[in-house]
Amino acid sequence: MRAGRTTAAQLKALGEFQSLYGFNLEEIETVNDLFALAGSLHLEIGFGNSENIIHMARCHPNNNYLGCEVHPPGLARALLAIDKLSLPNVRVAGVDAIDLLTSIAPEALDSVYIYFPDPWPKKRHNKRRLVNENFLSLLYPALKKSGIFRFASDDAVYAEMVKDLISNSTDWTNLAGERKWSPRPNDRVLTRFEKRAGILKNKIFEITASPCL
Ligand SMILES: C[S@@+](CC[C@H](N)C(=O)[O-])C[C@H]1O[C@@H](n2cnc3c(N)ncnc32)[C@H](O)[C@@H]1O
Repeated sequence: MRAGRTTAAQLKALGEFQSLYGFNLEEIETVNDLFALAGSLHLEIGFGNSENIIHMARCHPNNNYLGCEVHPPGLARALLAIDKLSLPNVRVAGVDAIDLLTSIAPEALDSVYIYFPDPWPKKRHNKRRLVNENFLSLLYPALKKSGIFRFASDDAVYAEMVKDLISNSTDWTNLAGERKWSPRPNDRVLTRFEKRAGILKNKIFEITASPCL
């Protein structure tokens, strides 16, 4: 977990709610047991303030949602929202996405979303970017063959790099067409970082990909 300024209410949520609405990496091996009802399973990585994962869980009560976020205040916000709204179909944890993808059962996930990942724009920091060839090689076995990977960023260089990795890989199909950007998904709410991109008048690049059969 990364350090972060956490309010008293958030600290309380982290203390009280993780055992109720969280998960750990051991539980992820049998991930469907975390949820009361069977349903398709969707993962949001780096959900930030949790606007989108909570919105998705409310809009699609028959789907199950997992979220991972290494920033404690973001995790706490999600825990507070799950409790307030009594959502039975969301579980969140402060685990690293790489550890989660390494631990999860093969083909457990119907979709994976990464919206506005940290861009690390300086060249010497590029290697810190979450989505790279290694990440995609871990994501591939975790997704169902009919599964969907969604990525959005207002960092043109990062987005181009991910689009190229998809295009150049025999494991992935760009669902928008070869080397094309996807439309914005209708069911995503404006996240904090999407709002920020809008204020800065930055173009947003969307990628939708699926594992090749
Ligand atoms: C730029 S923010 C975007 C947050 C949110 N998706 C949005 O659109 O507002 C990126 C988030 O990814 C989280 N993050 C970065 N690396 C991560 C990792 N390896 N596993 C899980 N979360 C991660 C950060 O803590 C941060 O909250």
